[in-house]
Amino acid sequence: MKKILFTILLSSSFINAQFTDINIVKEVKVKKKGVVVSAHPLASEAGAKVLKIGGNAYDAIVATQYALAVVYPQAGNIGGGGFLVGVKKNGEKFTIDYRETAPQKASKEMYLDQKGNANTDLSQNGRLAVGIPGSVAGFFATLKHCQLPMNQIIQPAIDLAEKGFAITEQEAGLLNSSKKYFEKYNKTSNAFVKNENWKSGDILIQKELAETLKLIQKFGLKGFYEGKTAELMIDELKKDKGIITLEDLKNYKVVERKVLEFDYKGTQIISMPLPSSGGILLAQMLKMSGFENLEKYQQNSTHAVQVMVEAERRAFADRAEYMGDPDFIQDKTSYLISDEYLKNRWKSFNFKKATASSEVGKIINQPKESTETTHISVIDKEGNAAAVTTTLNGLYGSKVIVSGAGFFLNNEMDDFSIKPGVPNMFGAVGGEANAIQPNKRMLSSMTPTIVLKNGKPYMIVGTPGGTTIPTSVYQSIVNVVDFKLNANICVNSPKFHHQWLPESVAFEKNFPETTIKDLENLGYKAERWGQLGRTEMILIDDNGNIHAVADGRGDDSVSVE
Ligand code: GLY
Repeated sequence: MKKILFTILLSSSFINAQFTDINIVKEVKVKKKGVVVSAHPLASEAGAKVLKIGGNAYDAIVATQYALAVVYPQAGNIGGGGFLVGVKKNGEKFTIDYRETAPQKASKEMYLDQKGNANTDLSQNGRLAVGIPGSVAGFFATLKHCQLPMNQIIQPAIDLAEKGFAITEQEAGLLNSSKKYFEKYNKTSNAFVKNENWKSGDILIQKELAETLKLIQKFGLKGFYEGKTAELMIDELKKDKGIITLEDLKNYKVVERKVLEFDYKGTQIISMPLPSSGGILLAQMLKMSGFENLEKYQQNSTHAVQVMVEAERRAFADRAEYMGDPDFIQDKTSYLISDEYLKNRWKSFNFKKATASSEVGKIINQPKESTETTHISVIDKEGNAAAVTTTLNGLYGSKVIVSGAGFFLNNEMDDFSIKPGVPNMFGAVGGEANAIQPNKRMLSSMTPTIVLKNGKPYMIVGTPGGTTIPTSVYQSIVNVVDFKLNANICVNSPKFHHQWLPESVAFEKNFPETTIKDLENLGYKAERWGQLGRTEMILIDDNGNIHAVADGRGDDSVSVE
């Protein structure tokens, strides 16, 4: 059922039929063709199909997101939110922020019990954890950059939901291990729960989701934020503690923000500004490690990792202190990424020993690993580039499925600092800057990024992974720009992650042991993690050759128009 093509293909075609053939393509080299890289082969193919019928990178990235909501329900979504970073062939750079927002009835105390203790079960699971979804509004806001009407862009996703598709072994495993949660948070029947276990090759049909997508196709934004879909969402939320209202849905707005851009060793990095911490962290980390001339070292060598971990430590301490929704706090971005500030921040770095986290910020604790969220990288044959990272937050979000509408709702409220110092599901702590307020966007780590060289797209990159996202994107850029590695090695070699708190450094299971031992001797505490992120990377060389790589850690796949 599942064919994995590890070879480099010169061309590829859309796989039509009954969606029972799942062709996972890990690596492609092409020229003058559009390419889509995403977490699922059928979603990448949906994007490529739209390119073939005259769409550009923005049509493709919207089609891929709709398709991911069907074939990759653990993170792909219409019930969550995301960020798009785009660079057009004419040089225009833009972002679309369709992050979820806190409902009007939300408050700083909403997850605190009578003694003032934070209840993370409520912020992470079930109906009170849901933020107002932004994805569908984001897709419509992208339309002005597209070539095709929404009714064509959405069609591949409708077909996938209606006809069904063969699930992979990874998906079967996830559906089986999540069954207990689906049953706990949903009392009505749904497409994801059946009596027997799911297995690879089973067909997942989502009739209710297909109907919802058709309502969006027919009524546009109102097909989601008003009318039947909105009413079904509110009915679902009201079943237990949900506070989102019809008015909240109707009032949801995307924000088009100026890109966060900075220079790095002959390249120009274009990334997401607040309310994602991703772009700021990336700028801080690259600039701080830039003080130590990383190119002198080898990828994953002791010196390189030490420098990068210490840059991560200082950047994440700033995340906790200063970052939040810029429409609600004083935005300190220019100061935080200024050379003057970062030079000063770097003064405490010492090759002889690990810096204590207490030296760079005020302490609080506790980690958790997650690989959720999902990323898409696209380039079209004209040279328009798009990077989207989108999320439900946790695996299948709040686990709540909108009965009658067939989609999962996010648990994004947990990305707020629910009580200063209490870590979220990624172990990230925050303070006042990221406290809950009605209509506010919760701080994110998503880092969709486009790197330019001579003004043209050179690299399109991003990954899921909660707080590990900025550190994985950071490593991807250093691997390409400093270590001159090819896209396959950059994506698939083992990674590491540090986030100020907890004090330890996480290493992927196949990370070089000698480096870990050296670092332990310098006072670093090491943790072994299963896997870090799923990076989707497109590299374009000076001659226009496109090298696209889908992460080997999952079913991620490349499709060519
Ligand atoms: N929910 C993960 C993020 O936004 O960073």
